[in-house]
Amino acid sequence: MSDGQAVMAPLEPTTALTVEEVLTVRHWNEHLFSFTMSRPASFRFRSGEFVMLGLQGEKRPLLRAYSIASPSWAEEIEFLSIKVPDGPLTSRLQLVQPGDQIYLGRKPTGTLVTDALLPGKRLFMLSTGTGLAPFMSLIRDPDVYDLYDEVIVVHCVRRVSDLAYREELESQLAEDPLVSEQALVQLHYVPTVTREPFHTTGRIGALVESGRLFEGLKGDQRFNPETDRVMLCGSMDMIKDFSADLESWGFTEGSNAKPGDFVIERAFVG
Ligand SMILES: Cc1cc2nc3c(=O)[nH]c(=O)nc-3n(C[C@H](O)[C@H](O)[C@H](O)COP(=O)(O)OP(=O)(O)OC[C@H]3O[C@@H](n4cnc5c(N)ncnc54)[C@H](O)[C@@H]3O)c2cc1C
Ligand SMILES: NC(=O)c1ccc[n+]([C@@H]2O[C@H](COP(=O)([O-])OP(=O)(O)OC[C@H]3O[C@@H](n4cnc5c(N)ncnc54)[C@H](OP(=O)(O)O)[C@@H]3O)[C@@H](O)[C@H]2O)c1
Repeated sequence: MSDGQAVMAPLEPTTALTVEEVLTVRHWNEHLFSFTMSRPASFRFRSGEFVMLGLQGEKRPLLRAYSIASPSWAEEIEFLSIKVPDGPLTSRLQLVQPGDQIYLGRKPTGTLVTDALLPGKRLFMLSTGTGLAPFMSLIRDPDVYDLYDEVIVVHCVRRVSDLAYREELESQLAEDPLVSEQALVQLHYVPTVTREPFHTTGRIGALVESGRLFEGLKGDQRFNPETDRVMLCGSMDMIKDFSADLESWGFTEGSNAKPGDFVIERAFVG
């Protein structure tokens, strides 16, 4: 266990939580980090789902929802996290080190799963900030390349250093043991930065309007409900605005119970 303030006493499993060990930690910048932890043998999830995780609070576990960034086949579980300076959880979670203990919920769930979408040709994954996390899970899952001809990951952030996983994505997951060959042909990465100079700038809506989003893709140079499926994850405002746009273009929202043309999940509350 580390000397930091993140973990104070050994954690005890509960009916809802297992206790896992932090394996690796990667700090992207002063706002973002990712970490991996052990995976219990009983932990099953679909790529794209989220789960509760946390540390011990004053009286009870202090838990927050987190999208799983690793694919369903992986031995370790990975997360991408914001560092909210005064955040009850992340002000401490950002201090974790390999060997520390973390609570992990036993019941992953969520709507950013291919089961909630109808079949299609192109899958667009539109994210802001930490909303990239569930898409890192899905694009490392071979199933997604069997289901769609083209898989497009859009990551919209304020600053260049907020582009977590940029190298992996720019290389089209060249080092990935399972999907590198499919990703090389089918994966498209579109990073965009809104508050610093970069080769691509502007919010996702601006990329749709300019046509930048569709550059290099087969098919229409616009969203088409006949061929396209869309997943949205990020700020509430982005999701609200973009859902309205998609509906105006003839897309219907899907769920686990009733698959549709697009699905949404907010990356945080507030
Ligand atoms: C379904 C779901 C999935 C989530 N997945 C992730 C994830 O993969 N990674 C992650 O970092 N967070 C994720 N969150 C947010 C996460 O649950 C916590 O809010 C976050 O860890 C901060 O916890 P906190 O206790 O430090 O601060 P909180 O009290 O929870 O949040 C304080 C404020 O910080 C801001 N904030 C919180 N989280 C974010 C964020 N991710 N991006 C931008 N601003 C934020 C909001 O304004 C919020 O009101 C998810 C939330 C939901 C509902
Ligand atoms: N990332 C940082 O550098 C930074 C620095 C200090 C504090 N913080 C704090 O961290 C929290 C989260 O910051 P964040 O940068 O992860 O998330 P964010 O504020 O949601 O911004 C992420 C990206 O989403 C875009 N965006 C915001 N609203 C949108 C909408 N309605 N439609 C389309 N795109 C939209 C932003 O563009 P715009 O730039 O055009 O808004 C930005 O590129 C905030 O509370 C912030 O105060 C972040």
